[in-house]
Amino acid sequence: MNTKINSAYIHIPFCKHICTYCDFNKYYIDTQPVDEYIDQLIKEIKSVPKQSMQTVFIGGGTPTALSIEQLKRLFKAIYEQFNGIEELTVEANPEELTDDKIECLKAHGVNRLSIGVQTFDAELLNVLGRAHSKDQAIQSVYKAKDVGIESISLDLMSELPNQSLDQLKSSLEIALNLPIDHISIYGLILEPQTMMYNAYRKSKLELPTETTIDEMDEMIESMMEQVQMKRYETSNFATSEEHQSKHNLTYWNNDYYYGFGAGAHGYVDGVRYSNINPVNHYIESIKKHHHARRDEHPVTLKEQYEEFMFLGLRKTEGVSRTEFERRYGVTLESIYEVPLNQLIYHQMIEVNPLNGDDIYLTKKGKRHANEVLSHFIIDDQD
Ligand SMILES: C[S@@+](CC[C@H](N)C(=O)[O-])C[C@H]1O[C@@H](n2cnc3c(N)ncnc32)[C@H](O)[C@@H]1O
Ligand code: SF4
Repeated sequence: MNTKINSAYIHIPFCKHICTYCDFNKYYIDTQPVDEYIDQLIKEIKSVPKQSMQTVFIGGGTPTALSIEQLKRLFKAIYEQFNGIEELTVEANPEELTDDKIECLKAHGVNRLSIGVQTFDAELLNVLGRAHSKDQAIQSVYKAKDVGIESISLDLMSELPNQSLDQLKSSLEIALNLPIDHISIYGLILEPQTMMYNAYRKSKLELPTETTIDEMDEMIESMMEQVQMKRYETSNFATSEEHQSKHNLTYWNNDYYYGFGAGAHGYVDGVRYSNINPVNHYIESIKKHHHARRDEHPVTLKEQYEEFMFLGLRKTEGVSRTEFERRYGVTLESIYEVPLNQLIYHQMIEVNPLNGDDIYLTKKGKRHANEVLSHFIIDDQD
């Protein structure tokens, strides 16, 4: 395992409006002590040793809901603490990407913008409770390009209530005609305690059937292939390896990362931790204890093996047997001989014939991903 920490996630739990489907840790910004939050967030960032950091990801909530002054304070702290940042990503909502905000991001070294579009369809934007229009989404990409942000990614969603194949197709077509180099496409997860969930329970909306979901997946696959947007992870596509999200690869490679901010998660020195969610409690905790950890979980060796498989098999290239042995000093076969043989026999996984090392999900394996992954859970009695 790479024990150096190369990545940091920073959470901004504020939004200017709340979307109907969203279950992330976020609060309506107008009622929140935002400046004080930034003060304490900076304290938390400064509580770790100064060091080089390959990737920093500012996510949310909505980082672009912050004012330019607040963003500047945050960037200043990041640069005081971390040097050599190669990939600095900010999540953005289209309607908030004003000229001065984009210029501020560019001036502070942001070289990757992840814009939350979800769909270009007016009707579906409405169902999702998004605050932007199709045109605003398109313009935000061109603005980011004009100002010189190197890498632009869009978040899109599929499997939406009443979303037709045509609606998904036309959103993908619009996206693929924009100057972007990365797309994340997330199938909707209907989360309890969201407005959408309540509407669903009252039978006010209908979700796509399994057949439609399969058709959507196939359409995504073939449209992406046509424009050579290569799927490198279950939900993520990039024009080239250079444009893959280095930050997110940290998660899938099961490497260490810091998580800063309310509700953020981190993984450091063999311990997974999560921070307190509510903003006021987070602020109080940092003030009193100089940290805001809600819980810490030392990851056992058995869990590390499982996570290596679960996270790694999300990647198209799969998991490397050599890497497993390098990290844990035992062969992958010695831990997982039976499931590997069974899954290869049933054509759910295969060994990369080009290097004889990587093991990845086959097309069939992807369709039954949950079942495949369950084979890598190690029974405590073993
Ligand atoms: C939590 S948002 C944060 C960034 C920004 N505020 C935005 O709305 O794009 C990050 C992404 O998570 C995805 N997302 C949020 N809730 C989801 C859900 N219930 N199911 C699937 N994807 C979801 C959306 O695609 C969204 O762009
Ligand atoms: S999807 Fe983004 S903008 Fe919408 S509520 Fe969630 S974090 Fe906020």
